[in-house]
Amino acid sequence: MKKYKYCCIGAGGIAKWKHLPGYGALENIEICAICDINENAFDWVKEKYPGIRTYRDYPEMLDSEKPDIVSICTPNKFHKQMTIDAFKAGAHVHCEKPMAMNEQEALDMIKARDKYDKRLMIGLNNRFTNEAFFIRDYISNGHLGDIYYTRCGWRRRRGIPGMGGWFTQKALSGGGPLIDLGVHMIDLSMYMMDSPEPITVSASTYRKFEGCKTRNMVFDPKKNGIFDVEDLAVGFVRFANGASLSFEVSFAMNNDEEEWFYELFGTKGGVKYRKGKLAIYSEMNDTLVDIYPDTNYKTKALDEFRHFIDVIEKKKKNISPAEDARKMMKLIEAAYESADLGKEKSV
Ligand SMILES: NC(=O)c1ccc[n+]([C@@H]2O[C@H](COP(=O)([O-])OP(=O)(O)OC[C@H]3O[C@@H](n4cnc5c(N)ncnc54)[C@H](O)[C@@H]3O)[C@@H](O)[C@H]2O)c1
Repeated sequence: MKKYKYCCIGAGGIAKWKHLPGYGALENIEICAICDINENAFDWVKEKYPGIRTYRDYPEMLDSEKPDIVSICTPNKFHKQMTIDAFKAGAHVHCEKPMAMNEQEALDMIKARDKYDKRLMIGLNNRFTNEAFFIRDYISNGHLGDIYYTRCGWRRRRGIPGMGGWFTQKALSGGGPLIDLGVHMIDLSMYMMDSPEPITVSASTYRKFEGCKTRNMVFDPKKNGIFDVEDLAVGFVRFANGASLSFEVSFAMNNDEEEWFYELFGTKGGVKYRKGKLAIYSEMNDTLVDIYPDTNYKTKALDEFRHFIDVIEKKKKNISPAEDARKMMKLIEAAYESADLGKEKSV
């Protein structure tokens, strides 16, 4: 069995709770090193992975370690260059979502992937849940018929991720909840429809919670930080196949509890996913039926990290390919332009 040398760039939240535990659980992965510009970010690394090497400079890490696989777990602004540099260093790349800041960057990453003949997977972990696995299968068996409308969103009441930190600075993040949270639920809706081509989008964005002093903020705000992204984005997308999609995503709004959801409406049935729970609305014997699949079983139907190894070894088709993420970047870019212009925009 081949053993893969693995490195991670960025030692923040997503490296800690997703990438290192995910790759660390695989028998054919050797976790070699992690890099972060902030020395304090290594506290948990030293405690949980005492044997791995730490670097402050990622080109130095790539050069010294010569990894087979690299995860990109840094703020969105750095995804493109780090991905391209990792390809150049001979590694396959598992890059966090959103793929990049805009479509051009996504195209540059795809070009480099092909030039260096490497694999690229985007960390859209919601594609790898038991629920997503079930719905894809259910749809491919024809149970929903033709899906012509979807509605999705991720609405937080006071969930601004570190107001003033990189998530709320457009220059580092590319935008607010649309590019951060929307990317998950809009992606799932499109994935379930087999990635139709978006042709137009009409969106509005709002920033109403700058300087908000609530004690109930989920994530600690940073003092005197920049907050120049939207805290709510809403929109409507038309696809080339005639289907449409509406979305609502917020970091903060005066609503009830946080929820993330997508709903698919087809000619034979509908599916609602909300916070890890599924409901199917259909007909049987000319009678309405509601079905509640229990997808909360122990074994994961799909493992994002094992899947990437299978993709590298050409055993499986990439479930979260850069091409889909590029389409998403194009849609998000057009949605922001639509909101700025105050009118519908071609995608
Ligand atoms: N898949 C998901 O559900 C999910 C969830 C959270 C975050 N993310 C994504 O993961 C990425 C990181 O988010 P996070 O929550 O871990 O952020 P974070 O702020 O917790 O961590 C980012 C880390 O990158 C480091 N960093 C910044 N510039 C660097 C550089 N030039 N070289 C090396 N390290 C550098 C920072 O010091 C920080 O420790 C983002 O793209 C985000 O959108 C995905």
